[in-house]
Amino acid sequence: MNPAAFGPAVVAWYAEHGRKNLPWQQAVSPYRVWVSEIMLQQTQVSTVIDYFTRFMHALPNVQALAAAPLDEVLHLWTGLGYYTRARNLHKTAQFICHDYDGEFPRSAAALATLPGIGPSTAGAIASLSMGLRAPILDGNVKRVLARYSAEGEYPGASQASKRLWQLSEQLTPQQDVAHYTQAMMDLGATLCTRKQPDCPRCPVRSGCLAYANEQQHRIPVPRPR
Ligand code: ADE
Repeated sequence: MNPAAFGPAVVAWYAEHGRKNLPWQQAVSPYRVWVSEIMLQQTQVSTVIDYFTRFMHALPNVQALAAAPLDEVLHLWTGLGYYTRARNLHKTAQFICHDYDGEFPRSAAALATLPGIGPSTAGAIASLSMGLRAPILDGNVKRVLARYSAEGEYPGASQASKRLWQLSEQLTPQQDVAHYTQAMMDLGATLCTRKQPDCPRCPVRSGCLAYANEQQHRIPVPRPR
């Protein structure tokens, strides 16, 4: 499978099997996608759904979030844990309102300078909500690409991470980037799972080096200790 065929294969899979009814996939905006991605950093989708819905009801836009007392934001976060996320959300909303005139910056690189937004979350916001061609490398996508390239090193190691970012950049298509990004997350979450990868159903198995070498259960390799 050549690199140019990867994106279209993943997007075609998404059309049939991807998740399309999550609340942050409706009325898509940078604000909604940002809040959802921050919630999803450390919390699973099934839990995030209700929190996200309540959060958007109380604070429907970045101006409302910036103007809210921190206490209200923390209250909306109660139960999600990792409260630094909520504090950063509040801080970043104020920053966007005061320094960016209420507009989210229009590039992954600029988004990644904001508190709480790392390179992968920045890529997710840029691609999912703005349609910009921006790579992501969250935990799920790391596993997919580590297997696809038969990455022999622990993906958290700096050289391996560099290779995987490079691969993610190379494979991200020009077309359908929002669907592509969501598809990669869904592929990792539902098919290319850690313990039970369902290779027969995978749209990119023909190019997958782990599959070709029957290494899918060994990759990604665990953190050395
Ligand atoms: N995990 C992180 N981001 C996600 C998204 N947009 N959809 C589903 N799961 C996710």
